[in-house]
Amino acid sequence: MRKLYFFDTTLRDGEQSLGITLNVKEKMEIANQIVKLGADVLEAGFPASSPGDFESVKVISREVKGITICGLTRCVEKDIELCAEALKDAENPRIHTGMAVSPIHMEKKLRLRPEEVIERSVAAVKLAKRYVSEVEYYAEDAFRSDRSFLVRLFEKVINAGATVINIPDTVGYATPWEFGELVTYVKTQVKNIDRVKVSVHCHNDLGMATANSLAGITAGADQVEGTINGIGERAGNTALEEIIMAIFTQKERYGIDLKVDTREIAATSRLVSLITGVPVPSHKAIVGANAFMHASGIHQDGVLKETGTYEIIDPEIIGLPRNQIVLSARSGRHALKHRMQELGYHLNDKELDRIYQDFLILADKKQEVYDEDLHALMGVGMSARGNIHIKNISVATTGTDSATAAVTLEFQGEEKTDAAIGNGPVDAVFKAIDRITGNRAKLVDYSLKSISKGTEAQGNATVKIEAGGGHYIGRGISTDIIYASAKAYVDAVFKTGEKIVSEQKL
Ligand code: KIV
Ligand code: ZN
Repeated sequence: MRKLYFFDTTLRDGEQSLGITLNVKEKMEIANQIVKLGADVLEAGFPASSPGDFESVKVISREVKGITICGLTRCVEKDIELCAEALKDAENPRIHTGMAVSPIHMEKKLRLRPEEVIERSVAAVKLAKRYVSEVEYYAEDAFRSDRSFLVRLFEKVINAGATVINIPDTVGYATPWEFGELVTYVKTQVKNIDRVKVSVHCHNDLGMATANSLAGITAGADQVEGTINGIGERAGNTALEEIIMAIFTQKERYGIDLKVDTREIAATSRLVSLITGVPVPSHKAIVGANAFMHASGIHQDGVLKETGTYEIIDPEIIGLPRNQIVLSARSGRHALKHRMQELGYHLNDKELDRIYQDFLILADKKQEVYDEDLHALMGVGMSARGNIHIKNISVATTGTDSATAAVTLEFQGEEKTDAAIGNGPVDAVFKAIDRITGNRAKLVDYSLKSISKGTEAQGNATVKIEAGGGHYIGRGISTDIIYASAKAYVDAVFKTGEKIVSEQKL
């Protein structure tokens, strides 16, 4: 049995594709959950890409322990210096540097000759090595590169000090058999390959990222890179939960000793979806809502007779309780504590008291309180709304296409009320909030989803707004969908920064 290293790039390749800016607190929440899951490496960002990314990598390096913290760079001096600075406080820092290596990328994008790419790569690895002992070299678009060039390049960067060699299929073009062959080729042709770890990094453009990564692992890759829920550029990256469970279900076939905590998979997926605002498709492998549902009569009959007929994974293995317990206003503290424990929340007496009060308020509004409601009560993934608090909302609708809203907010220490007319109640509420806060950010996206069952279910509203060239996500949950929407909007407005808000004349 050999060890496979899990490299999580949700906060780098995942985040860079979203067109949104997660704040440090949100990134920290995801980072801590990745540690709980048991990944080996956390790629926290690309420090030279923005001051915000630099700050996040710095904070994560300082605060998150028990995992290698990695930062991405181009083969550019400034990038490497900034990355080293951001990683300064990491327990185990790694610089991930590299260049595009396929003919199309070198000629058309970089406008460099192959020899120049080798020269710059070697210089970058040597520079990175002055700051950290772990240097990973990525050969962007390796799958479409010339193989003998790739071998020459890898030998040189290994001699320069690289400790990990990353083979990306950047555009998701490979098939599993070809990708496996490429890894075998690198492992057999690169003379000094036994001095480094080999990593695979696949994209999902043809829906083969997981299969390609597994082919690479079978061919001897030591590390696999991916994101939670497979979020990432275009069709996304390899979904790490799929790799974990593929290996878990057939450990002997892969000969890999899994050290990750599979029971954290569901919680990690839920958190990443909530924080990024990217929903998990219901049919998504492992973490989709339907992944363990048996709809057809024949399947239900089979599962009732023997679960193994149609179920290859016990949902409890990924942290989903098998039994559906529904709590109500009659449920006591003990039942709540027990269910919370099953969901992975270990509350002390003080926390239980506080959550129980919130639970009773919610249970009064809803007949039945589901697991999804309990996650929401725990506030997982919910960021603070800073100095903006919603005091009151009243809405009147006229006909089907017009509504008036009056909103009272506590904003910058003062209570302020204003009203607005909109195309519907949500539009009117958002406009009233804009009038109070002076927000000018543009609404880019708004969605509302029920988080549990029934007409009295809580609504989970997600809002995306654009300000100063960045996108900001806000979320709100409530049994009242107008209130949930207002909470989400205020959350997003707060994140655009007090700078934008206070610049406006109120
Ligand atoms: O897909 C890719 O090639 C990458 C590299 C920067 C590692 O994300
Ligand atoms: Zn990538």
